[in-house]
Amino acid sequence: IKPVNVAELRRMREAGEKITALTCYDASFALLEDRAGVDVILVGDSLGMVIQGGNTTTPVTVNDIVYHSRCVAPHLKRAFLVADLPFLSYATLERALDASQRMMQEGGAKMVKLEGGREQANIVEYLAIRGVPVCAHLGLQPQFIHKVGAFKVQGREEAAAEIMLQDAKVLTEAGADLLVLECVPSSLGKRIAEASKVPVIGIGAGPDTHGQILVLHDILNISPMVTIGRKPRFVQNFMEGAPDIESAVRAYVQAVKTSKYPAPEHCF
Ligand code: KIV
Ligand code: NA
Repeated sequence: IKPVNVAELRRMREAGEKITALTCYDASFALLEDRAGVDVILVGDSLGMVIQGGNTTTPVTVNDIVYHSRCVAPHLKRAFLVADLPFLSYATLERALDASQRMMQEGGAKMVKLEGGREQANIVEYLAIRGVPVCAHLGLQPQFIHKVGAFKVQGREEAAAEIMLQDAKVLTEAGADLLVLECVPSSLGKRIAEASKVPVIGIGAGPDTHGQILVLHDILNISPMVTIGRKPRFVQNFMEGAPDIESAVRAYVQAVKTSKYPAPEHCF
């Protein structure tokens, strides 16, 4: 089996093959997701919610992400492993480099992901020119929860949409090899995907991004948010109609590959 890498993700984008991405935090699911054909696996700081049971991602530490990456990485034969840089771990160039070093050398990640727009360009460049592949994360940025107060759809107004389009350009010019776009109107998801030099993976960003990412526990309908009846609009319960967990993950992969997910009811 040929492991997925940055070049393969670019090829998939060129070929119009949808990229499937899913979060993962442990060995059992790493084996399962890899077997099910998930292309990109993210050890996300969403673990602060679905593993640690918190309300936000801000308490998650570099140690937490490294620990879970170490649980996942050895079990992937094909999937490309991305690790989130948690809250404030990339507040300075030095901290970003130290955290990324740990993600790659201890955690076994192939790429790190960080939230923010053009203000992160110097960090992205600092990492990229040293051989650290970077995924930028635009749109809704959960690490800003305490500053903005609540999660909502981003880039609805044309001025904000323009800024986000420019941010995507600046970040890729700084060396980002992948873009995650969270909670934006489908029209903006399409515009950013078309304008982007690198593949764009959406979550609540409509059907026209080059791939989709969701949180594992959300698609299995067992995350705390889902359990208390606060399922985000973009989440689909793939356990519905599935005989077991692996079938549910395979159904997610198939739905993304065939553009059946996201459906209009998942979009903004
Ligand atoms: O932490 C996470 O799981 C994420 C994805 C939802 C994109 O950042
Ligand atoms: Na995250």
